[in-house]
Amino acid sequence: MADYPSSIPAPIDATQTPEWQALREHLDKLRASGFSLKQQFANDPQRVRKLSFDLPDLHFDLSKNLVTDETVRLLAALGRAVHLEERRDLMFSGAHINTTEDRAVLHSALRRPADECGQLIVDGQDCVADVHEVLGRMYAFADRVRSGSWRGVSGKRIETVLSIGIGGSDLGPVMAYEALKPYADAGIAVRYVSNIDPNDMAEKTRDLDPETTLVIIVSKTFTTLETMTNAREARAWLLGALKERGAIDDTDASAAAAIKSHFVAVSTNLELVSDFGIDPENAFGFWSWVGGRYSVDAAVGLSLVIALGPQVFEDFLSGFHDVDTYFATTPLERNVVALMGLINVWYVNFLKSPTHAVLPYDQHLHRFPAYLQQLTMESNGKSTRWDGTPATTETGEVFWGEAGTNGQHAFYQLIHQGRMVPADFIAFANTPNPAKDGAQDVHELFLGNFLAQTKALAFGKTADEVRAEGTAEWMVPARCFGGNRPTTSIFGVGLDAHALGELIALYEHITFVEGTVWGLDSYDQWGVELGKQLAKQITPAFHDDEALSAQDASTQALIAFYRKNRR
Ligand code: F6P
Repeated sequence: MADYPSSIPAPIDATQTPEWQALREHLDKLRASGFSLKQQFANDPQRVRKLSFDLPDLHFDLSKNLVTDETVRLLAALGRAVHLEERRDLMFSGAHINTTEDRAVLHSALRRPADECGQLIVDGQDCVADVHEVLGRMYAFADRVRSGSWRGVSGKRIETVLSIGIGGSDLGPVMAYEALKPYADAGIAVRYVSNIDPNDMAEKTRDLDPETTLVIIVSKTFTTLETMTNAREARAWLLGALKERGAIDDTDASAAAAIKSHFVAVSTNLELVSDFGIDPENAFGFWSWVGGRYSVDAAVGLSLVIALGPQVFEDFLSGFHDVDTYFATTPLERNVVALMGLINVWYVNFLKSPTHAVLPYDQHLHRFPAYLQQLTMESNGKSTRWDGTPATTETGEVFWGEAGTNGQHAFYQLIHQGRMVPADFIAFANTPNPAKDGAQDVHELFLGNFLAQTKALAFGKTADEVRAEGTAEWMVPARCFGGNRPTTSIFGVGLDAHALGELIALYEHITFVEGTVWGLDSYDQWGVELGKQLAKQITPAFHDDEALSAQDASTQALIAFYRKNRR
């Protein structure tokens, strides 16, 4: 592009490369040869071994994907053709690969050990030193809250953290808190408020004791409408409730003391934090080079450090870092992180499958699909490339899912006999809550379901097998399963902080790989801006006729309904 100002090389159009063309021809050949997973497994006894991979805590079986050795080779070649490795190295080195915001993309610096990797100077700043300075403050603060040496204004110890944030300032922490609840050992519970819907705040504060509550306001910008509205509401609730109990009086000094003891903030905008009345001592910063949806391992994870303790958070960071190192150093053909991203491209652009299910067979991961939706869809739901030119192929995947086995009784029908939906199954060999139903180990019952689903999806059930069960002929088609439904199995030892860090870093880098092939800046989010602007223009129209008349006919009619029916 003539006026593309960045020193970051413009994206390579993957669709115009010989490697893309080779993948097209390869797909035609697979189709013509009647590719089936059953046949692939029969023909190649080494298939599982060749398509198995390991990270420190996670084992991967990619053998039930619709790929051959040749597909893997061609996908790795496509990665090289779009300079995936060079772009990865640019990202890790702090180059401004977020071109539309002219920013570095350095979530990997959040988990670099201070001693191992040395300095990382980016834009004149030693990122790793800064990260560790904030981590040290977070750990010291969390230790005070956890030990009870930090007290509320009336002298009581903190029992509940109310974390206020939205999007990346909420989804990561709430997902990780749910995932690691068995490790919450200090008797401190966390509640997360995100929605601007007053119901959210009302339900989360209804039975809350203000004297034992610590509020964390988490916002990268400290300007987000939802978070700032909820933060003001929380301040009013806390001060009002403390006054009602006689824990503070009506003076400004009393209110300031209460805020000092009950409010802390996490933000890149420390000036606005201080304007809100929060003591700079109680503010934990991060940096513009951390995207909101990539920030759970920054100070955004403060609620986790309080609930789980600094050591668990260190394990979490080390899980991320192990995957960063692996991703940065493993050749593409054996790099499961890169391959999972490239195989997703195979499904989206070649097999035309626009959605991707993530199915955790672990109740503690029940918020993981929601977290991944922001990570992947806010990152790659775009049609313009990082140099301002239009995307040249389909981009983005609709990520969705639900914890197993609940999903089995809801939408699996469609995955088995309806559309093709590539799916990642995630399970763990160990549970923190073993249980028996008579002689039956319930966790094994659960794992049996995970394995049964991936087997049924891959290998299906033929008409002859259905007939052999004595099914009436006209019913046979309805009871057949076509198989060839692709899945990846991620089997971990146990869901602890290290494994969770690995899992998150895995999907962060999968998102990067897909974005690189499509030529996207996966680190901006301009698509959320228009709605924010319009909400500001429309809200006055509930009461103001002039603002109402400026709206389109549909919006006017909906507001008329509201005006007529509000009580
Ligand atoms: O509206 C989208 C978004 O900008 C996300 O990218 C971000 O995670 C979220 O809003 C919250 O932003 P902040 O942390 O600045 O409050």
